[in-house]
Amino acid sequence: MASSKANNCPSISLLFTCLIAMFLSTVVALCTAIIVSWVGVVSSTPTHDSHINYTTVTGYFLQDEASTNTSTFSFINTNFGLINRTYATDATYDPSGKKTQWQRFENQVFRLNRDSGRKVQYKLLFMGRHGEGYHNAAESYYGTPAWNCYWSLVDGNGTVRWDDARLTPQGVKQALAVNAFWASELKDQRIPPPRSYYTSPLTRCLATANLTFSGLQLPSRHPFVPTVKEFFREGISGHTCDRRGTKSYIQQAFPKYKIEPGFTETDQLWQAYHREVQIDQDIRSKAVLDDVFSTDTRDVSFHHESFRGNRIIAERQVGPVSDIWTSLDYRTDCRVRTVLGHRPFSLSTGAVIPVLVRAETIGGPSPPTATQPYEAICTCTSPPPVGATTSTCTYATATPSNP
Ligand SMILES: *[C@@H]1O[C@H](CO)[C@@H](O)[C@H](O)[C@H]1NC(C)=O
Ligand SMILES: *[C@@H]1O[C@H](CO)[C@@H](O)[C@H](O)[C@H]1NC(C)=O
Ligand SMILES: *[C@@H]1O[C@H](CO)[C@@H](O)[C@H](O)[C@H]1NC(C)=O
Ligand SMILES: *[C@@H]1O[C@H](CO)[C@@H](O)[C@H](O)[C@H]1NC(C)=O
Ligand SMILES: *[C@@H]1O[C@H](CO)[C@@H](O)[C@H](O)[C@H]1NC(C)=O
Repeated sequence: MASSKANNCPSISLLFTCLIAMFLSTVVALCTAIIVSWVGVVSSTPTHDSHINYTTVTGYFLQDEASTNTSTFSFINTNFGLINRTYATDATYDPSGKKTQWQRFENQVFRLNRDSGRKVQYKLLFMGRHGEGYHNAAESYYGTPAWNCYWSLVDGNGTVRWDDARLTPQGVKQALAVNAFWASELKDQRIPPPRSYYTSPLTRCLATANLTFSGLQLPSRHPFVPTVKEFFREGISGHTCDRRGTKSYIQQAFPKYKIEPGFTETDQLWQAYHREVQIDQDIRSKAVLDDVFSTDTRDVSFHHESFRGNRIIAERQVGPVSDIWTSLDYRTDCRVRTVLGHRPFSLSTGAVIPVLVRAETIGGPSPPTATQPYEAICTCTSPPPVGATTSTCTYATATPSNP
């Protein structure tokens, strides 16, 4: 049968499954407590009595506009897609019109958080797709049918390897271009640097995160120390590019990264010749977002405003936006994106998308969900010709030999 199902390790339309979130971590505890309660942001840990509902807030980024062509859009040429506009909050924050769009947006998000009540929080997520990996190059070379039914299931072809794929030179170049873009945005736009960083445990995401944030002038309070989170992986297929390295390997290769508690030494999620079904991926994506949104709440605390008469004076705009940067193996059907209620948006390798998220804690348990078993992958016992447009595969779990 034709193997036209989208490649599970594609390079084209994923959210970086390498998520990075940033927090303010050195604020004095007392100060944090006071300011956090003042701005009305609470930790909204989901329990059996409540759950979190995510929505994407539109009107701020071009990526959310129906008129934006997702296949030709460039975040680098458009200030990350931030729409040129005024906000109601400009009048008090920037009466003389001297602030950049990003500074005014940051203030706007701060005010949204301040006025939202205890159960609602806003966070800005930057989701980055990894740069091109060897698996992406191989899929282009062999064509998707031959890749999916045969080559994706082996570790490499004798010339190159793509299990837990590394970045190609092109992938490195893509990440460095984003690095240069962050540098110019920090300098010219005064974009609030991320406060928390998260990443998928796949090497291509770990490495993209490293290159993206190398050598930037980041605040010492919010250093680039990403947390590696298992569930920021994209859909886990039997493709060897989706099998992560061991915990020891990650620690040794990325010694500055934090690895979340409970992260197992070996990959417990990957299964040869089988793939995770979408419902499981949705459950995982929701769980990891719930984890981040209920624990990563310090960000708002270091925005300082003071009242003078009736007027709010923004005194130190240190960063009210709860910025989270995540490095993902983002795919077109990226489930983190769907949980956030964001419209479909393909990302080319290395691309980044900002999403302003509104998270509301709602009383009552979440709708029941039950995980399903993995399903078998349709495989070919011998490799179809390079560039084949179709392939004949079967659901037997015959093991292709590893050349
Ligand atoms: C989540 O919120 C949106 C609007 O903010 C609403 O339309 C939707 O029904 C909510 N979903 C749940 C499960 O409460
Ligand atoms: C988006 O741009 C591509 C490439 O220029 C074009 O083929 C496609 O038709 C455009 N899509 C829309 C909806 O305009
Ligand atoms: C947005 O504003 C900047 C200057 O602040 C300008 O350079 C840019 O062309 C504007 N973009 C659009 C799409 O209007
Ligand atoms: C292995 O795959 C790469 C593409 O990723 C290709 O350039 C190379 O020629 C292939 N090697 C063999 C032995 O076919
Ligand atoms: C990237 O990795 C290299 C090699 O381990 C390390 O020296 C460097 O500090 C890392 N950079 C970042 C920003 O993590």
